[in-house]
Amino acid sequence: METRILITGANGQIGTVLTNRLREIYGKSSVIATDIKESESENEPFIFLDILNKVRLREIVEDLKITEIYHLAAILSASGEWNPKKTWNVNLNGLFSILDLAKEGIIKRVFFPSTIAVFGNTTPQINTGQDVPLLPETVYGMSKAAGELWCNYYNKRYGVDVRSVRYPGIIGYQSIPSGGTTDYAVEIYHEAIKNGVYECFLAEHTRLPMLYMPDAIDGTIKLMQADGDKLSVRYSYNLASMNFTPKEIFESIKQIIPEFQINYKPDFRQDIAASWSESIDDSRAREDCGWKPDYD
Ligand code: NAD
Ligand code: SER
Repeated sequence: METRILITGANGQIGTVLTNRLREIYGKSSVIATDIKESESENEPFIFLDILNKVRLREIVEDLKITEIYHLAAILSASGEWNPKKTWNVNLNGLFSILDLAKEGIIKRVFFPSTIAVFGNTTPQINTGQDVPLLPETVYGMSKAAGELWCNYYNKRYGVDVRSVRYPGIIGYQSIPSGGTTDYAVEIYHEAIKNGVYECFLAEHTRLPMLYMPDAIDGTIKLMQADGDKLSVRYSYNLASMNFTPKEIFESIKQIIPEFQINYKPDFRQDIAASWSESIDDSRAREDCGWKPDYD
């Protein structure tokens, strides 16, 4: 059967890059971008789709004979705190509509991105393992932890082929993040070039796990193409490559732009970051689907 893909949240930070890569692999007309936000560059075929509109989602999937959905649409950690109930609604009910299409056999495979935000103050922060206590501090983390459990449930109970990774902070030059706690690690490069100074909303020694965009995209596609029988995790795989602090990035940029300056003004995102892991053990993803990052 021909693979026909629908991406939700396709005009976001990850979706922008993932859509292009999937179109290189499967062909432009076989990868349908959807979002409630316009794209900043050419992104056809594109369809406006609010993920809470179940009827329209089903219509598009059936009309276009979609076989796989990459479900990226979500409200992220920082934005989520401004409207907790909306975040829960978008992040959970959007996922249910997609899992139900898979349960009915209308689509064959689902990708659900989870996050390091599922971890919390009861989780060991160094080299965080695959199966650890989860007590997330944000509504975003709560919704993703619940999403992981529902993915696992739909797989075990109904045989739904759902695959998931817990992305660390994703950094890349191709697209701009927004609404997240790890966004500083992209913003800092843009501000260094544009203004020569950056006001950082995290404290200087806040260490977080991060992943470079090309690795995030490769890892995602590798997982979606893997032999399903080899996947022992249907809630969500840990994924990792590097970790660093704002001060370490600042010092590395200063080697190229010696006059670059930084001011630290931690805000509410500092508490969010402090509840997350510093480094991640992703050995299960490495064993099950050959995951290995190219960039440290
Ligand atoms: P983003 O905020 O840049 O993009 C999300 C997209 O979802 C946006 O374009 C937004 O318009 C869309 N969206 C929001 N509500 C919607 C709705 N009701 N209907 C349809 N679309 C809607 O986020 P991103 O960084 O590209 O993240 C993509 C996915 O990866 C998310 O599920 C996120 O939780 C996960 N993730 C991202 C990171 C990261 O560092 N970027 C880390 C961990 C997990
Ligand atoms: N990068 C994301 C955020 O900061 C983590 O899921 O919200």
